[in-house]
Amino acid sequence: MELRAKAAPLVPLSMERRWMWPLLLCSIVVIVLAVTSSNMSIISSFQTMFWIFPTVPSANRTGPAFVESQLASAAPPPVGSRIPRLAYLISGSKGDLDRLWRTLRALYHPRNIYVVHLDLESPASERLELALRVANDTVLSTVGNVHVVEKANMVTYRGPTMVASTLHACAILLKESKEWDWFINLSASDYPLVTQDDILHVFSSLPRNISFVEHTSRLGWKEGQRAKPLMVDPGLYMTRKTDVFWVSQKREVPTAFKLFTGSAWVALTREFAEFCVWGWDNLPRILLMYYTNFVSSPEGYFQTVICNAPEFSVTVANHDLHYISWDVPPKQHPHTLSMDDLPKMIGSNAPFARKFKRDDPVLDQIDAELLGRAKGSFVPGGWCAGAPLCTEIGDPTRLQPGPGAERLAALMDVIVRSKKFTQNQCR
Ligand SMILES: *[C@@H]1O[C@H](CO)[C@@H](O)[C@H](O)[C@H]1NC(C)=O
Ligand SMILES: *[C@@H]1O[C@H](CO)[C@@H](O)[C@H](O)[C@H]1NC(C)=O
Ligand SMILES: *[C@@H]1O[C@H](CO)[C@@H](O)[C@H](O)[C@H]1NC(C)=O
Ligand SMILES: *[C@@H]1O[C@H](CO)[C@@H](O)[C@H](O)[C@H]1NC(C)=O
Ligand SMILES: *[C@@H]1O[C@H](CO)[C@@H](O)[C@H](O)[C@H]1NC(C)=O
Repeated sequence: MELRAKAAPLVPLSMERRWMWPLLLCSIVVIVLAVTSSNMSIISSFQTMFWIFPTVPSANRTGPAFVESQLASAAPPPVGSRIPRLAYLISGSKGDLDRLWRTLRALYHPRNIYVVHLDLESPASERLELALRVANDTVLSTVGNVHVVEKANMVTYRGPTMVASTLHACAILLKESKEWDWFINLSASDYPLVTQDDILHVFSSLPRNISFVEHTSRLGWKEGQRAKPLMVDPGLYMTRKTDVFWVSQKREVPTAFKLFTGSAWVALTREFAEFCVWGWDNLPRILLMYYTNFVSSPEGYFQTVICNAPEFSVTVANHDLHYISWDVPPKQHPHTLSMDDLPKMIGSNAPFARKFKRDDPVLDQIDAELLGRAKGSFVPGGWCAGAPLCTEIGDPTRLQPGPGAERLAALMDVIVRSKKFTQNQCR
């Protein structure tokens, strides 16, 4: 009796092998037929065949062939030190049209790709006007790298709808282009402190596998006030905007994964964005569902995913690339930046800062002093072909980095090349 029970697993295994081989052969024949009949050379059809079956079991194989690791390594090989491309999400809400437009023009570079999103709280007229402005602009429409989200999302401040909206933008960017290297999410009240030529120049020499996610596992007061309470975001199912509400029961701190928290502003590698959006590994999906009932989920979702994924947690830089001024102790909203903050902004060496009041004089100062941007135009760079207002499009790979590149390089020395980073990670 005991003997049979032990031998039992062998039977289904060998049976499985017996039908595996004919099935495999059949599929190979079908694929060869399909591929050759669809007008491709024999050589490329063989290549396709081996690409589809990279792990035909051989007598030589050592480790087991788990599917997730194959999917993860299916990404194209890293690209030397070519000039990277950045994929930006710039989002805003009601009344943010002009701010968003200004931020977009300050961030614009023909090598990048942009998604602009005015959420459902903004009137349809505002969203239409944004689409018209993008279509009507000679440079933007010629290059065609600015995408306006047509099906706007309902977004509740601090709620999971915010994370959903960010993932939506990642998905659009991945569908539009496979060429970009980093995804950076900004809001209409953010502004750059360096030119795109500066940032592209400095990022050219960075390994493409470094994500910038400010994180900590020391939750402190957040453990009791964020991790344990359960809330519902009506933005997930209502057509009118209302605030989140709490339920009376509380939950324990998870033991299946470790919670992390940090800044809601992130810069993610394309590979990590694919990991989160495509979901061949269940972790990002499980955590997305977990964070559905977590207040301030934008401050924890990407942190918890990246720090619980060993293949990505070894390449996280603990920085959000922003200058943000918090009161001590921190309040709900950061301090609004003004002219007095300019020296500290510059001193931080950060490429972005937030948050600014609409058309605050300090923005004009940043345009004049740091970006060299004339009112209403783009930030000049090598791509402008010498036209001061960038009305002409030259070679986007011609970069003209300025003093901003030196500041940003100094920041990278601290956060990427420091001992703290190389010893890392996610504590
Ligand atoms: C492949 O298709 C093109 C037209 O789409 C045709 O001109 C060409 O002859 C075809 N080549 C082969 C090898 O069938
Ligand atoms: C096994 O692998 C070795 C080296 O990786 C190779 O030389 C050898 O031909 C392989 N044998 C078989 C049966 O595939
Ligand atoms: C389109 O651009 C032209 C000039 O470039 C401007 O006069 C016009 O007002 C613009 N239209 C819209 C809808 O923005
Ligand atoms: C992304 O950017 C927006 C700015 O609009 C921010 O509010 C949000 O929380 C960010 N982070 C995530 C994870 O969605
Ligand atoms: C990250 O990329 C660099 C440069 O391409 C490489 O040397 C390093 O091994 C990579 N790290 C991981 C963990 O993949």
